[in-house]
Amino acid sequence: MQILKDSELRYRRLFEAAQDGILILDAETGMIEDVNPYLINMLGYSYAEFIKKKIWELRSFQDIEASQDAFKILQENEYIRYEDLPLKAKDGRLVQVEFISNVYWAGDEKVIQCNIRNITERRRSESALQVSEARYRRLFEAAQDGILILDAKTGMIEDVNPYLINMLGYSREEFIKKKLWEVGAFRDIEASKDAFEALQANEYIRYDDLPLKAKDGRLIPVEFVSNVYFEGDEKVIQCNIRDITARKHAEESIHLQSTALNAAASAIMITDRDGTIEWINLAFTTLTGYTSEEAVGRNPRDLIRSGKQDQAYYKQLWDTILAGEVWHSELINRRKDGSLSIEEETITPLKNASGKISHFIAFKQDIAERKQAEARIQRQLEHLTALSAIDRVIAANFDLKLSLSEILAHVTKELGVDAADILILNPDSNMLEYGSALGFRTKAVRKAEVRLGESYAGRVALERQLVQIPDLRNEPENPLLTSHLAGEGFACYYGVPLITKGQVKGVLEVFNRIALAPDGEWLDFLDTLAGQTAIALENSTLFESLQRSNVELSLAYDATIEGWSRALDLRDKETEGHTQRVTAMTVKLARAFGFSKAELVQVRWGALLHDIGKMGVPDGILLKPGPLTEEEWVVMKNHPTFAYEMLSPIRYLRLALDIPNSHHEKWDGSGYPHGLKGTQIPLVARIFAVVDVWDALSSDRPYRSAWAEEKVREHILASSGTHFDPQVVDLFMQIPK
Ligand code: C2E
Ligand code: SIN
Ligand code: SIN
Ligand code: FE
Ligand code: FE
Repeated sequence: MQILKDSELRYRRLFEAAQDGILILDAETGMIEDVNPYLINMLGYSYAEFIKKKIWELRSFQDIEASQDAFKILQENEYIRYEDLPLKAKDGRLVQVEFISNVYWAGDEKVIQCNIRNITERRRSESALQVSEARYRRLFEAAQDGILILDAKTGMIEDVNPYLINMLGYSREEFIKKKLWEVGAFRDIEASKDAFEALQANEYIRYDDLPLKAKDGRLIPVEFVSNVYFEGDEKVIQCNIRDITARKHAEESIHLQSTALNAAASAIMITDRDGTIEWINLAFTTLTGYTSEEAVGRNPRDLIRSGKQDQAYYKQLWDTILAGEVWHSELINRRKDGSLSIEEETITPLKNASGKISHFIAFKQDIAERKQAEARIQRQLEHLTALSAIDRVIAANFDLKLSLSEILAHVTKELGVDAADILILNPDSNMLEYGSALGFRTKAVRKAEVRLGESYAGRVALERQLVQIPDLRNEPENPLLTSHLAGEGFACYYGVPLITKGQVKGVLEVFNRIALAPDGEWLDFLDTLAGQTAIALENSTLFESLQRSNVELSLAYDATIEGWSRALDLRDKETEGHTQRVTAMTVKLARAFGFSKAELVQVRWGALLHDIGKMGVPDGILLKPGPLTEEEWVVMKNHPTFAYEMLSPIRYLRLALDIPNSHHEKWDGSGYPHGLKGTQIPLVARIFAVVDVWDALSSDRPYRSAWAEEKVREHILASSGTHFDPQVVDLFMQIPK
C-alpha cells in the first residue's frame, strides 16, 4: 500500500511539474480523467472545462476534424503521433503542438495518456532557419565576390560559389573536397598552405593583392579575406575573394595622372565648389611655400590673397567660374613667407556626371621673370628713344649750353635721379668748371671749380673712371659736399668721365636724395649717356660741324640694341641664341653681297631686332604649342608692321628697319605685310628671310620640334624662286654654317 502510495506521489509530482501538457483519458469512454497544470496554462481552459469531456468535445480540439477518428485509431493501435497539430487556445491563439498518445494499463484499467508538447517556438525558429538558409544561398549564388567555404579541420573545400567558378574558370568539381592549395589557381601561391595554418590559428587573414592563376593562365589580382565561423558546432572557414583588376587599373591610372600633375611645371590647385583646397602639386609648394599638409582644407582666400586686387576683381573671378566658364588672368598672391608672387592663372570649373560644378582646377605660373623681361624691353625702348633724342639735339644745336641742359633732362628722367650736372675741363687751367646742372636746390653748383684729383669730380677726371659713393652721409668732410652741395640733401653720388678721342672733356655727375641700388643695366646706360655728352662737348668745343664718327656713335647704340634683343628672346622663349646666330649669319651674307661697313652696322641692328614686333603678339598666340587659327594668324602677321611703328621714330634705326618690316615678304609676292614681290623687297630682307627660316627650322619652336639638317636644306632649296630670292639661296648654300 505504501509502495503504491509512493509511486502515486511520484507520478503526481511528475504530472504536476511536467513541461509538456498531459491528458489522461479513459480508454473505454474516451472521457478525460485528468489534465496537468502545464496544459491548462498552455490552452487557457480551466480544469473543470477538461474533466469528463471527450477529447473532441474540447474546444481546443473541435476544429481538428480527425480527432474523433483519431481516438478510434488510438483505441485500436495503442499509439498515435501527430508531429504538428494546431490547437486553439481559449483566447483564440493557435498553438502548434506535437501530440503523442499511448495506451497503458493502470491496474486493470486501460488509460490513454496524451503528451502534448508546445512546439510553436521550435517551429518559428525552424522556419526562420529555413528562411535564413535560403537567404544565405541566394547571397552565396548571386554574390559578386568569389566565396569558398572550407572545413576548418581538414582544410577541404565544402562549397564554392558560381562567381568564383566563373572568375577562375575551374569547374565546381575541381574545387570540392580539395584542399585550397590543391586547386590550380592557388598552387603557385607559396603561402597558401601556411596561410591555412595561420588561418586556423588566427581566425582572420587578409591579403590585399594576391595573384591567382585562372585556368586559362591569366593572372587575376584578388583581395582575399578569410574568417572562421562556427556553424552549429562545426568550424568552417569562409574565404571571400574579390577581383581587383579594375580597381588596380583605376588606381594605376590615378597614380599616373597625379604623378603627371605633380611633375607639371605649373602650380596646380584643385578646390571644391566652395574653394576649399583638396589637392596641390609640388610646383604649387615651390611657388607658394605651402606644403600639402598646410594647404589642403584651407581656402585660397585666407591662404594666398594679397590684398593687391579689390573685391570686385575676385567677384568677377568667382562669377566667371561659378557660371561654368574658364577664368584666365593675372593675379598677385602672397607666399607663405609674405613675399608677393605675380601669377598668370587659369581656373577651369570641373563638372560631375550630372553636369554640376563640383571642383575647380587652377593652373598658376610665376610670371615675375617674364614681367621683368617685358619691363626691361620697355626700358630699353625708352633708352633708345632718349639716345635718339639726344642725337637730334646735338646735331641740331650748336649752342652747347642748350644741348647740355637737354641732355641732363634725359639723364635725370631715364636714370630716375633727382639731380645731375656736367662739369667741363678747362684745358688751360686744368680746372673742372660748371657746364650745366638740373635738379639742384641752390645755385652754388654754378660756382664750382674743381681741381683735377680733388674731390669726387676731380678724381673721376684724373683716374678716368666711374666713382660711386652709395652713401654720402658717411663722408661729411668732403670738400665738394661742404662747399657746393651743402643743403642739397644728397644721399648718393655717381660720377663718370666724359672722354672723346682719348681725351677727358669733363665729368657727368648724378645725385639722388635717397639711396639707389643700381644694376648693371643702369650703370651701362649712365656710361652710354656720358658717351653722348662727350660727343656734344667735342662737337661744340672744337667748333666743328664735322660729322660725328659713326663708329663712336654705333658703340653707344650697339650695347643697347644687343641688350634689347636678348630681352626679346627671353620672352619669345626662342632657342637660346637664335637672334645671335641669325645676326652673325646675315652680316656674313650681306658682306658677301658687298654691303659697306657702315651699312653692315645697320644690317646688324636690323637682324638683332627682326622680331621686335612680336612684342605686340600676346603670349597665348606666341607661345601656343599648336597651329594658329585664322584669327591668331591675323595678329601674328601684324608683327612686321608693329616693328615698323615702334622703331621708325628712332632716327638712327631708320636704315635698320628693312629687316623687321620686310622679313616675311616672299619672292613670289605671297608674303606679308605688303605682298612685295622680287626686287621690291629690300635686299637685306631677302637675305635675312633665308637665314631666319633656316635657323627657325633647325630649332625647336613651341609649335613643333627642330627639323634635321638635311630636311632644312631641302626645304630652302625647294623654296628658291617662290619664298626666297634664288640668288640669295645660291650664295647662302655656299657659305659654311
Ligand atoms: P618663327 O618661329 O621665328 O618662324 C619664322 C619663319 O620660319 C616662319 O614664318 C616660316 O617662314 C619659317 N618656319 C618656321 N617653322 C616652320 C615650319 O615648321 N615649316 C615651314 N614650312 N616653315 C617654317 P611665318 O610662317 O610667317 O611665321 C611667323 C611666326 O609666326 C613664327 O616665327 C612663329 O612665331 C609664328 N608661328 C608660325 N606658325 C606657328 C604655329 O603653328 N604655332 C605658333 N604658336 N606660332 C606659329
Ligand atoms: C579659389 O580660388 O578660391 C577657388 C578657385 C580656384 O582657384 O581653384
Ligand atoms: C581667390 O582668392 O579667391 C583666388 C585666389 C587664387 O585662386 O589664386
Ligand atoms: Fe618674324
Ligand atoms: Fe626669327
